[in-house]
Amino acid sequence: MKIVLKPIDETNRDAVIALSVRKDQPFVAPNDYSLKQAEETNAEYPGVARPFAIYAEDRLVGFCMFAFAPEAEDEDDRYWLWRFMIDKSEQGKGYGQAALDEIIRYFREHGADVLYLSTEPENECGVHVYHKAGFQETGEIDDGEATFILKL
Ligand SMILES: CC(C)(COP(=O)(O)OP(=O)(O)OC[C@H]1O[C@@H](n2cnc3c(N)ncnc32)[C@H](O)[C@@H]1OP(=O)(O)O)[C@@H](O)C(=O)NCCC(=O)NCCS
Repeated sequence: MKIVLKPIDETNRDAVIALSVRKDQPFVAPNDYSLKQAEETNAEYPGVARPFAIYAEDRLVGFCMFAFAPEAEDEDDRYWLWRFMIDKSEQGKGYGQAALDEIIRYFREHGADVLYLSTEPENECGVHVYHKAGFQETGEIDDGEATFILKL
């Protein structure tokens, strides 16, 4: 399955904003909110927020956003998978796991040695795919979200 992460631009921005998850999946912010957050973050810390559209076989299926901050003083703040979602109509087809492989590859290829993320422990599907990709709980819970780490 060919998964490609493409930067957000005027050709895909509206379609990315239109992607959404099911009502019983309140685990990710709406994509328009994330894109605004990316702009604000990059105004202060250029290049740190890296939002991408996820394409499977040339079809837009999801969205992810990274925090990529190699200069951050605290090692734990450098590399985060900040947002990750597959549209509700495209879930359960293996795209999430394949996209996660691509995401991990991106961080490795850009010199990261570790990748963090956090999610609610109730997010059973998310926790399942993160464990399958090799992420492990650090034991930290912040604002109701468990932190996961993958050493690259
Ligand atoms: C998490 C998410 C990205 C996964 O994407 P996806 O395309 O559906 O994932 P895949 O089809 O590749 O794989 C789903 C896996 O979860 C499993 N699964 C599905 N529902 C599950 C549940 N309720 N509990 C446990 N596992 C579940 C499937 O069986 C499959 O695993 P398997 O291949 O070992 O059988 C997607 O569900 C999503 O966008 N969720 C809402 C937003 C979210 O939670 N984002 C993460 C925030 S940190």
